[in-house]
Amino acid sequence: MKRLEVKNVKAYYRLLIGNKEVDVKAVDGVNLEIRKGEILGLVGESGCGKSTLAKVMSMNIKPPLYFKGGSVVLHTRDGKSIELSKLHKEELKKNIWGKHIAIIPQEAMSALMPTLKIKRIAYDVLRSHNPNITLEETVSVLKKRLEELGLPDWVVDRYPFELSGGMQQRTVIAISTLLNPEVLLVDEPTSALDVSTQKIVIKTLWRLAAKGIVDSMVFITHDISVVRQIADRIAVMYAGKIVEVASTEDIIFEPMHPYTKGLIDSIISLEPEVRKRGLRYIPGQPPNLINPPKGCRFVNRCPFAKDICSTKEPPLTKINHNRLVACWLHIQG
Ligand SMILES: Nc1ncnc2c1ncn2[C@@H]1O[C@H](COP(=O)(O)OP(=O)(O)OP(=O)(O)O)[C@@H](O)[C@H]1O
Ligand code: SF4
Ligand SMILES: [Mg+2]
Repeated sequence: MKRLEVKNVKAYYRLLIGNKEVDVKAVDGVNLEIRKGEILGLVGESGCGKSTLAKVMSMNIKPPLYFKGGSVVLHTRDGKSIELSKLHKEELKKNIWGKHIAIIPQEAMSALMPTLKIKRIAYDVLRSHNPNITLEETVSVLKKRLEELGLPDWVVDRYPFELSGGMQQRTVIAISTLLNPEVLLVDEPTSALDVSTQKIVIKTLWRLAAKGIVDSMVFITHDISVVRQIADRIAVMYAGKIVEVASTEDIIFEPMHPYTKGLIDSIISLEPEVRKRGLRYIPGQPPNLINPPKGCRFVNRCPFAKDICSTKEPPLTKINHNRLVACWLHIQG
């Protein structure tokens, strides 16, 4: 059932303020399981740690970010379990990235080399895993993949700047998954795009999963209304922690954590059942991650906070087979 397991992971940014070293606790004790064959949405406000968690899930960690503790374990298609958090960067580069886990970072489109044609970009990617591959072979593999994803094959001979934003993003998706990785981590793939182009990009991602090119996917966004179109389950992140995980249906229609409720209520374009509860937003700001509050990190914004909330942290607790919540309203202190 499990594809990727993140266990009690902490990853901090080490900063120098004046002459004092401080840690930004961007991912702070996260437990999360990505199941085989699922699309998991990861949502939360800007700065809550989504992109940092994506880096941790693939162990793509560079200073000032450092891995403080915990473990990340990948269960491969052929039945092996690999503790990624124990591997060296060279091993990750050679054996894991691209082959088992692909990450499409938040700035992926702008990271495309502007001076190289798409086929050359794909060639460099494939060559790093198979030094004997030729450009002709790359073009044939890439054209086949573009066709599977519903993209035209003339893309191979274009420069990135000759493609529209949506086409660039879909091309990045095609190139990043040429080696059929088990897991794709895709960070805000639609936020720079208009609504109709967003839908096309989502369809491309959906095809990747439906055709089994990618087995499990983590779709990261600050926008629940986007991710609900594709995700089987949704994990909600707040101030460096996962606060709720449930099926997409339950998150949208029966959110349990007060923060999830606030997020849902602040979306305009949802069904009438949600809309009639009225449009609200979450007052206040997330806490400073250098010095977060001792108990629940949502305590200063939560309308339901009680005494225990400011003294004891609520652990992420299983409510039933399909739901985890970290809130003292739903678990015993
Ligand atoms: N290079 C860095 N140096 C120091 N702090 C950082 C760095 N990158 C991110 N942070 C901090 O870590 C926290 C988490 O950032 P992260 O980018 O993971 O959030 P996010 O949820 O992806 O936000 P967004 O929705 O804006 O992409 C934030 O407080 C951010 O300011
Ligand atoms: S633990 Fe307390 S402060 Fe935190 S969300 Fe639940 S009720 Fe609100
Ligand atoms: Mg981000």
